[in-house]
Amino acid sequence: MKILIVGSGGREHTLAWKIAQSPRVTKIYCAPGNAGIAQIAECVAIKPMEFDKLTAFAKEKQIDLTVVGMDDPLVGGIVDAFEAEGLRVFGPRKNAAIIEGSKAFSKDLMKKYGIPTAAYETFTDAESALAYLRGGVKFPIVLKADGLALGKGVLICKDLPEAEAGVDELMREKRFGAAGDTIVIEEFMTGREVSVLSFVDGKTLRVMTSAQDHKRAKDGDRGLNTGGMGTFSPSPFFTKEIEEECMRTIFRPTVEAMAAEGRPFAGVLFFGLMLTADGPKVLEYNARFGDPETQVVLPRMKNDIVDVFEACVDGTLDRIELAFEDNAAVCVVLASDGYPEHYEKGLPISGLESFEGDPSHFVFHAGTAVDAEGRIVTNGGRVLGVTALGADLHEARREAYAATERISFANKYMRHDIGKAIDEA
Ligand code: AMP
Ligand code: GLY
Repeated sequence: MKILIVGSGGREHTLAWKIAQSPRVTKIYCAPGNAGIAQIAECVAIKPMEFDKLTAFAKEKQIDLTVVGMDDPLVGGIVDAFEAEGLRVFGPRKNAAIIEGSKAFSKDLMKKYGIPTAAYETFTDAESALAYLRGGVKFPIVLKADGLALGKGVLICKDLPEAEAGVDELMREKRFGAAGDTIVIEEFMTGREVSVLSFVDGKTLRVMTSAQDHKRAKDGDRGLNTGGMGTFSPSPFFTKEIEEECMRTIFRPTVEAMAAEGRPFAGVLFFGLMLTADGPKVLEYNARFGDPETQVVLPRMKNDIVDVFEACVDGTLDRIELAFEDNAAVCVVLASDGYPEHYEKGLPISGLESFEGDPSHFVFHAGTAVDAEGRIVTNGGRVLGVTALGADLHEARREAYAATERISFANKYMRHDIGKAIDEA
């Protein structure tokens, strides 16, 4: 099979790495890819939103299956564009990817079908949002841009002045553009966060092993929200009992709700959960693999991932059982100092070759490029994800941090407390 991957981050590098292990695969292309992906796949200079160019490329190269990693093209309808050309593609259609593309849609869906989530109100103008906030709400409170904002459109406001400033930023200054035309204001929840990724074929759901992300830029969950600074898998807090409860109250009801709405979901459905004192509740849905959750989940997965992709496309997922190794993985993101705001790019990276052939330590490229002199250089906020496997979470954590020492670049930045929560398990 010839496979095309759409995207350019650590998630797509991990997907390419996992797909390359399938004996069924002869060739992998990635649009646009990065310097790490280029070591496994042929990178093609087409942007993820250039649907016409992508479908033309897939036809020309006789691609058997396209796998879409990123949210923007999914929400924009890339799957519909491929299907219209008779091409096989893994991912939700536009009318299902809206579960990630609009927080107002997903909140209304949960309300309609009784799926547990934080109480909320939706606003389309700043005046009514401000009036609501001044009318005696409980703080802290959470403001969310309705649309996609690189995981950064969520503001947790500790008091009224902060919330007023947040409404200005999202709705008047349009910091996230049209994503802030509508905002959701919701109740602040406390508890452990867990990311659960699942494969769905429209009706059947198969849950992958759990993971926990670290969204804030700085140690101790301080600093700005980012795309994710590191992950561990499995989450020791996501017990069998909690998984069964989620299956009954969240996972199956969501898949059934989307089907009932005439929006059957096929692809990866990502449940961002908060384990509250009142039981598990949904923080958000994503319509794709998480990044950097993928970097700890796929290295533990035993299945041939191409079989699973095809079952999702063909609606035969009921014939597949997922299997994961009884081990653990930790991923520490090496970022450019200053991320998620201002940072320098184009700095040479050394130490990558020490990972070649290493069966239990991996370096997945997120933002890298090859410069004019052929050197691998930094090319983004999140630069690399260093993942280690271990017999348990403690070993994986030690190994991941030891492996981060093998890599250097001038403005290397990382959190030092990824996976610290396991000490409380
Ligand atoms: P989201 O993109 O919706 O997952 O939000 C990003 C992060 O903000 C989450 O991972 C949580 O850490 C935090 N967050 C979002 N919604 C809430 C909420 N209702 N209560 C507490 N924290 C939240
Ligand atoms: N790591 C969270 C996400 O991919 O949205």
